[in-house]
Amino acid sequence: MREGDRNIDEARQGEAISVDTLAFAEDNNSVVQKKLYLESYGCAMNFSDSEIIASIMNNVGYTTTKDPQEADLILVNTCSIREKAEERVRNRLNEFKRYKKKNRQLVVGMLGCMAERLKESLLEQEMLVDLVVGPDAYRDLPSLVERVNGGQKAVNVLLSREETYAEISPIRLDSAGVTAFVSIMRGCDNMCSFCVVPFTRGRERSRDPESIVAEAKDLFEKGYREVTLLGQNVDSFKWNLDIKGKVKNPDLPVVRFAELLEMVAEVNPNLRVRFSTSHPKDMVDDVMHAMSRHENLCKYIHLPVQSGSSAMLKRMNRGYTREWYLNRISAIKEILPGCELSTDIITGFCGETQEEHDDTMTLLKEVGFIMAYNFKYSERPKTLAERKFEDDVPEEVKAARLSEVILHQRQYASELTKKMVGKVYRVLVEGPSKKSDEKYFGRTTHNIVMIFDKGDLKPCDYVNVRALACTTVTLLGEVTTDQADA
Ligand code: SAH
Ligand code: SF4
Ligand code: F3S
Repeated sequence: MREGDRNIDEARQGEAISVDTLAFAEDNNSVVQKKLYLESYGCAMNFSDSEIIASIMNNVGYTTTKDPQEADLILVNTCSIREKAEERVRNRLNEFKRYKKKNRQLVVGMLGCMAERLKESLLEQEMLVDLVVGPDAYRDLPSLVERVNGGQKAVNVLLSREETYAEISPIRLDSAGVTAFVSIMRGCDNMCSFCVVPFTRGRERSRDPESIVAEAKDLFEKGYREVTLLGQNVDSFKWNLDIKGKVKNPDLPVVRFAELLEMVAEVNPNLRVRFSTSHPKDMVDDVMHAMSRHENLCKYIHLPVQSGSSAMLKRMNRGYTREWYLNRISAIKEILPGCELSTDIITGFCGETQEEHDDTMTLLKEVGFIMAYNFKYSERPKTLAERKFEDDVPEEVKAARLSEVILHQRQYASELTKKMVGKVYRVLVEGPSKKSDEKYFGRTTHNIVMIFDKGDLKPCDYVNVRALACTTVTLLGEVTTDQADA
């Protein structure tokens, strides 16, 4: 894992992180202890789900191990977002074959989005796999595993309109104990034409805000100092409202995302709150006003644009134009001066002309993102784009455009980081720096990684650090008693 990246960023890159904690809350003396090896791919939602899965399996006697060789059960929580994500999982499954040769009792399960997309066909495609479970069926895992132990294969890929796992207390697989994911909703109703998520995660539904606040409180009491609220489109969080926007129960409060943010912010001023992902079409000013009222609502917004061309955005079915996106950016800059932004870009989507790509480049330059996650378009089965458009941009053009975006972004981010040198930032200490035993890393409110001497600090402390130097996107600084600029 790269330094400082044990966060949503890492998940976005689609790299695998295996479970490496044995710190389980409950000691199941009555049940024979079995070992679970759990490996997660894809977005932060998937990593958050893995914490729910660990909790469900812990209740029936499974403790996690980071060594797949000693596991009784291997669960792979998969991602389908791009073809490469699926390929990576298939290669990994091949590696697991040798463990099964050694231990014929070993059970191997595929969970998550790839399981949902491919359903029982996975059992034929991947002989090693005994168990296929979709994102809304994890409560059924213990009985499905039992069925496999009884000699059968087992599948549950039912999607739900209600499941939010609201009352399941996740087992935190991030042993550092500083930051945690809190899932606030599931599914997505947007149907962006390139995207497989609505098919793998089902309809959008929001989690009971009381249970979200309770989870944040519990985390704070356990010493955590940062939560990231997760959903595919957090701006459309709604509680006590039906799809048409009518109040369901007049005796209960209506909670939209802006209200939820304030509720979580009020848990404690020393609990930092981040969120991902915002959708430009739904991001209302109320969210920015809430952020301006609470210092602990971090001044960093990830607002995926995908493309800078209105014609392209229409083909992508994103529900906004370039002008609308830029209007949202202006609102953020006005209401939240100093707030940093990041985005997602897809290059080479169906029919992308040079002009449309140039529009993306000018938008990147106009807005100025501290970070951009850039992807070559990868056609996904069953999506609107697969059915309606031709994947007609040649691979080398997709790649060249991607390189152009990456190069620009690197240069821009480096310039922006340089401008931060000299300023003092309030940093939450996260853990030891990978490159030096004498240093810690932490983050600014803008999600920028800062490296500084350990001194007598410890993880979870807040400290003011003056940035003295930088690499492309990392600041190097010294602890100071001076007031923070941000
Ligand atoms: N709900 C989030 C996105 C989740 S997927 C949002 O709307 O922003 C994360 C990112 O993966 C997307 O923002 C998009 O940039 C990228 N992505 C999704 N489908 C893709 C595809 N078929 N090919 C390439 N990139 C894709
Ligand atoms: Fe996919 Fe669009 Fe939903 Fe994001 S908002 S998960 S890109 S369909
Ligand atoms: Fe991948 Fe599913 Fe997330 S497709 S990006 S793991 S919602």
